[in-house]
Amino acid sequence: MQEFRVLMGHDTPGYASIGVYRDHGGYEALRKALHQMTPTEVTDEVYWSGLRGRGGAGFCTGMKWRFIDRSSPVPKYVVVNADEGEPGTFKDRFIMEHVPHRVIEGILIACHAVGAAKAYIYLRGELALCRERLLTAIEEARRAGLLGASVLGSDFDVDIALHRGAGAYICGEETALLDSLEGRRAQPRLKPPFPAQAGLYGCPTVVNNIETLANVPLIVEHGAEWYRSVGAPNPAVDAAARTGGPPSGFGPDSPGTRVFSVSGKLNNPGVFEVPMGTPMSALFGLAGGLREGLELRAVIPGGSSAPMIGPEHFEIPLTFQTLADAGSMLGSGAVVFIDDQTCPVDLALNLVEFYEHESCGKCTPCREGGQWMRKVIQRIAHGQCREGDLELVRHVSDGIKGKCFCALGESIPAPVNSSLALFPEHWQYHIEHGSCPIGAKEYSHVG
Ligand SMILES: Cc1cc2nc3c(=O)[nH]c(=O)nc-3n(C[C@H](O)[C@H](O)[C@H](O)COP(=O)(O)O)c2cc1C
Repeated sequence: MQEFRVLMGHDTPGYASIGVYRDHGGYEALRKALHQMTPTEVTDEVYWSGLRGRGGAGFCTGMKWRFIDRSSPVPKYVVVNADEGEPGTFKDRFIMEHVPHRVIEGILIACHAVGAAKAYIYLRGELALCRERLLTAIEEARRAGLLGASVLGSDFDVDIALHRGAGAYICGEETALLDSLEGRRAQPRLKPPFPAQAGLYGCPTVVNNIETLANVPLIVEHGAEWYRSVGAPNPAVDAAARTGGPPSGFGPDSPGTRVFSVSGKLNNPGVFEVPMGTPMSALFGLAGGLREGLELRAVIPGGSSAPMIGPEHFEIPLTFQTLADAGSMLGSGAVVFIDDQTCPVDLALNLVEFYEHESCGKCTPCREGGQWMRKVIQRIAHGQCREGDLELVRHVSDGIKGKCFCALGESIPAPVNSSLALFPEHWQYHIEHGSCPIGAKEYSHVG
């Protein structure tokens, strides 16, 4: 059921070390990229693979790389987003811990493709083991001549630096991340210009997620067609690739695999890699289903920013398009199964508290709206509801939606509105009785 591509070898003893990784063909994709392909050919291969960003937005990776002006005289940078902090999301951590050299190889190939001589990994501060594994991998690669001057005897010089964040969710937003990396307080920048035009130190910059980059060596080694042989690719893209013509957009294209973080009150929660298009029910099965006595009530399919959806979508194939059609999103690939003993009001409150705490304060709807929303939902959750509170929640939600500077604020209404839409009677019971119909006394912790 699982298909290991990004996680290939993670269960092989010693795979995190360079010796075992190379014994299994590691760094051959880098050799191929440097000695048999031009940077444009590498970018084209990634483009035609249809690889889409795994950090949340799902933007086409090859297209992002094409935006970099290689002829520009200023330095270009690759910045790796390893700040993983969305509630429910823990798959990048697993990738960095178990297959660190695949990540490093992907970064090096990306640098070659866009003409960067320097890459920065921005790592969430709490991820101590990831730091250890990545630093060891960087050092091993340096000693093996895969990093530094004249990599593998080519004219490619490159270096990677690891930077630890201090655990703020906003630092995962790519432009806030760049500000943090430059030594400033992390707040999102106005876009455009996008990082590809003016990113780190105002220079052309590719910002990519860990899982995104870990796909790159596989694409270079086996080719775009191989990459597209699993998952839910859009046949129109394959037809366009064969004729050499540009696709009219990738459309509903979700090729390859996806590494999912699966959580909830499950028997076997964890990280699973499955082909894109795998039904949510299969992921539920891999995670061993809910613990005895619990029933499925809802699912958050793509991290806490993704609106939760009802069990009627249980058989839905997990792709970018199908989840958008269902009114949610694939986002960061964090699937949280919500059971019938979890209070949906408490759940909404728990997530709104998170977003309130993590707001960077730059824009008013997020900074003030988050606090206001939390206060009102807290009253509803704790039996102190005032008349008109439910309408107030909807009013504040309308005041936030579509009016924030970045997607952090935009995420605040998602759990609230979807909880309200799926469980109106439950909210009504809280309001009318001042207590919870399922008697949940404590906050329901997701993730
Ligand atoms: C508040 C916020 C937090 C984010 N956190 C992360 C993160 O931890 N890791 C990540 O890769 N992308 C995160 N993103 C998305 C990034 O802004 C960006 O889209 C991504 O790093 C691009 O890489 P990709 O194209 O490979 O997905 C976050 C976005 C927002 C708005």
